[in-house]
Amino acid sequence: MPHSFPGHYPATRLRRGRAHDFARRLSRETKLSVDDLIYPIFVTEGEPVNVTAMPGVQRHTLDGLMREITDVVALGIPAVVLFPVIDPDKKTPDAEEAANPDGLIPKAVRAIKREFPELGVMTDVALDPYTSHGQDGVIDGDGYVLNDPTVDILVRQTLAHADAGVDIVSPSDMMDGRIKAMRAALEQNGHVNTIIMSYAAKFASSFYNPFREALGSAGNLGKADKRTYQVDPANTDEALREVALDLKEGADMVMVKPGMPYLDIIHRVKETFGVPTFAYHVSGEYAMLKAAIQNGWLDERAAVLESLGSFKRAGCDGVLTYFAKDAARYLASN
Ligand code: PBG
Repeated sequence: MPHSFPGHYPATRLRRGRAHDFARRLSRETKLSVDDLIYPIFVTEGEPVNVTAMPGVQRHTLDGLMREITDVVALGIPAVVLFPVIDPDKKTPDAEEAANPDGLIPKAVRAIKREFPELGVMTDVALDPYTSHGQDGVIDGDGYVLNDPTVDILVRQTLAHADAGVDIVSPSDMMDGRIKAMRAALEQNGHVNTIIMSYAAKFASSFYNPFREALGSAGNLGKADKRTYQVDPANTDEALREVALDLKEGADMVMVKPGMPYLDIIHRVKETFGVPTFAYHVSGEYAMLKAAIQNGWLDERAAVLESLGSFKRAGCDGVLTYFAKDAARYLASN
């Protein structure tokens, strides 16, 4: 009976700390809370539509948006991020509508801030909802996205959002030098406290497809891709260089996108820079989980809390997720 001999027992029994719930609670290293959540919302100029590949997600009219926001505030979620579904008639090669001070997004921002001044409102700065070709910038005859002319429009878009009262502008375009240009324009126009959360390390991912359906840009983009500006999924050092540049240019917070396939990047970013770090748990990640959940193959509550918890463990301060409302409910009843 070797187990009865002194010295034959394991010196360390890690299971001892796992044996009771109180001990597991006491030694838990990271915790997800409602304070970590940012909820993405699609707002449309047209009819409300369910997004097929994202069960539970809709394009909302301005009225529908205000109902969503009421829920979000009641759940205690600190911030939302808005994405516009633009009328196809308003899409042009140069995305002029993106800088319209009375466009859909400035209107939505004003409406939210009027009723819920405490809620953090974040907007996406990028041209893909507004271009007739679905790219995030203006293109030349070969379809190549032109950097500096795109930055000019992004700056005007930024100011249209800031003038409407947005709290955080969030450029998702991956043009070089855009943070510097946006920061300068914000400062020069008196918006000293407008936060920039840059999509610093945004990868050319296959996980954005459901979002492009939601936005109505998939058809415009066709078979084209975004690999001449988004980071190659195989790269790490390049992602860190992007983050370093964005911080130097004036970003306050940085984001890694997509989320779960890129936890290694999140970890390196947080360790290297120690700045507020966020992840975008993107549409394709949501779609995958939902598909399995709807088939009864995964338990929604457990899978969602474990997935979002992984971002905290990797080093994230917060996460943009379509599960934000569900997670807030689960956390409230934990
Ligand atoms: C585009 C943008 C994308 C997302 C956010 N902003 C898609 C893209 O780069 O094509 C993706 C978000 C998601 O998939 O949930 N500027």
